[in-house]
Amino acid sequence: MALVCAVKLLLFLWLFNFLPSSQGSFASAHFFYLLSLSLSLSKWSFKKIGCVCMLNFWSKCNPKPALPENWENRLPLFDVEAIYCGMCRFIERVGWDAKLVNESYPWIEKQIVHQPKLEPWQVALRDSLLDVGISPFNGFTYDHLYGTKVGGTIFDRFGRRHTAAELLSSGNPRKLTVLVYATVQRIVFDTSVTRPKAVGVIFKDENGNQHEAVLADKPQSEVILSSGAIGSPQMLLLSGIGPKADLEKLKIPVVLDNKFVGKGMADNPMNAIFVPSNKAEKQTLIQTVGITKMGVYIEASSGFSQSKDSIQCHHGIMSAEIGQLSTIPPKQRTPEAVQAYIRRKRNLPHEAFKGGFILEKIANPISKGDLSLVNTNVDDNPSVTFNYFSHPYDLQRCVDGIRVATKVVQSEHFTNYTRCNKQTVEKVLNMSVEANVNLIPKHTNDTKSLEQFCKDTVITIWHYHGGAHVGTVVSRKHKVLGVDRVRIVDSSTFSESPGTNPQATVMMMGRYFGAKILRHRLGRAAGI
Ligand SMILES: Cc1cc2nc3c(=O)[nH]c(=O)nc-3n(C[C@H](O)[C@H](O)[C@H](O)COP(=O)(O)OP(=O)(O)OC[C@H]3O[C@@H](n4cnc5c(N)ncnc54)[C@H](O)[C@@H]3O)c2cc1C
Ligand SMILES: *[C@@H]1O[C@H](CO)[C@@H](O)[C@H](O)[C@H]1NC(C)=O
Ligand SMILES: *[C@@H]1O[C@H](CO)[C@@H](O)[C@H](O)[C@H]1NC(C)=O
Ligand SMILES: *[C@@H]1O[C@H](CO)[C@@H](O)[C@H](O)[C@H]1NC(C)=O
Ligand SMILES: *[C@@H]1O[C@H](CO)[C@@H](O)[C@H](O)[C@H]1NC(C)=O
Repeated sequence: MALVCAVKLLLFLWLFNFLPSSQGSFASAHFFYLLSLSLSLSKWSFKKIGCVCMLNFWSKCNPKPALPENWENRLPLFDVEAIYCGMCRFIERVGWDAKLVNESYPWIEKQIVHQPKLEPWQVALRDSLLDVGISPFNGFTYDHLYGTKVGGTIFDRFGRRHTAAELLSSGNPRKLTVLVYATVQRIVFDTSVTRPKAVGVIFKDENGNQHEAVLADKPQSEVILSSGAIGSPQMLLLSGIGPKADLEKLKIPVVLDNKFVGKGMADNPMNAIFVPSNKAEKQTLIQTVGITKMGVYIEASSGFSQSKDSIQCHHGIMSAEIGQLSTIPPKQRTPEAVQAYIRRKRNLPHEAFKGGFILEKIANPISKGDLSLVNTNVDDNPSVTFNYFSHPYDLQRCVDGIRVATKVVQSEHFTNYTRCNKQTVEKVLNMSVEANVNLIPKHTNDTKSLEQFCKDTVITIWHYHGGAHVGTVVSRKHKVLGVDRVRIVDSSTFSESPGTNPQATVMMMGRYFGAKILRHRLGRAAGI
């Protein structure tokens, strides 16, 4: 039997021997698909960017920033201890076994997570956060604690990034077959029985040849879907599990009518303010984070044009070049639109690219959206809507977060470090709006309104989740409800994105469910 150590990357895993109907070798990983193109960006651009290179920061699960009563009337910093209560409420709420969770995080950490070397930009952020009251300082920790901390990174001290793929080395290679560049078209169900059951999957190899992987006829054989918050709901729909009327419209044979598939999609809105600098900044990804009691996280990144070799006038993760097109209607997301956007940025002052930015991310967006198929081609992205800021409390938290971020920028720790004079809030916001991080039409007549600022500069931090929730699409064991032999283990099952950044919990979840499944099947013989 194959040991399932990491669900990520292994797009579909068959715990029991499966038989590809035609053997072949599949070179190179089908890795970037959908991961980098968060929001139905069309295909030409994700190939070009493949920007998972940004994936970096490691932090564990988070407490729940529940909606306080009368939040409209609350004081700027309401006392939420009772609501937020200490750490790791996420694990409690999802009902996972805390002991196994506690073993599973370090199982991953030992293999691929490192302590970062704190760079000056991140030191300035740390000191400024403490200055503006995001305290105490909790030092370097993977734990999710209120205050300011330094989290882990998947880059080692030589700058080499370690990914979930490395976790495969814990498996038994004789019992594990990995097919890369294998794009699953759909799960095949036997519908002749009262309860539909999965019998295999149809996939295409890199040459476009179709194959079927058939589940062994053993009671515990199953398909484990881990194609992500966009890929998994899409796969269920393509396989005939979803809202009946939507499936019928596309002539997909209905296996199971479930109106909840693709519903409750959420994306944590991210907004940033730019920090100009008089010297070229070293590039840093996220290291220091501020975990506030307002349900907002503060992070920072720096240095996207520090040398001649780096991409000029490019804001890295803050730029439309790499996919921040989420907020404009799909038909306007054309290559021409992106080129025009790049040309417009040439007019921006050079300092806008020299420094870095402070970003704020809302912890638990209440605004929700949904996902639906555009056609029956798995290579085409489904249509996804997140409805950023449709709930006023999300917008309010963005405003609160931007207020903190502007204070951070104005703190002496930053101004001394960047050797720039303290800027007025208005100027900082003006520059950030002008930096043009997305293609939303700007309201140049209104820099005073932070609400408008939030709406105009919203982008994704790629922590989107949902679409196959526990209770409506999958059971607590993550088995797809109403059918047999399909499980989902990925961020489509999350009702919130855990931690300041989710990948720690996503990977932990892979090990957690792998261990659970093996223990259930083999008991002590599982050896874990
Ligand atoms: C640019 C970027 C930067 C990020 N930075 C960070 C960070 O610093 N820290 C952090 O904690 N998180 C970060 N994240 C978020 C994190 O990567 C995601 O939350 C996490 O990867 C979600 O895991 P998942 O298993 O649900 O889905 P994914 O990791 O998206 O895995 C889904 C996989 O399924 C494959 N797939 C989809 N459909 C099919 C199909 N039909 N057939 C075959 N394969 C298929 C995809 O190619 C992909 O490999 C970042 C995300 C992005 C995009
Ligand atoms: C898991 O770890 C957390 C944090 O260290 C601790 O509070 C909790 O008691 C642990 N739970 C179990 C069951 O070991
Ligand atoms: C900033 O620089 C000034 C002048 O050198 C100094 O007096 C001040 O203490 C510095 N502030 C911080 C927070 O380091
Ligand atoms: C920023 O300031 C400039 C100069 O004052 C002004 O022309 C521009 O309209 C402002 N932009 C925004 C978005 O307010
Ligand atoms: C800015 O312009 C928009 C559209 O022209 C208008 O709706 C809005 O009220 C204006 N805002 C201010 C503060 O003038």
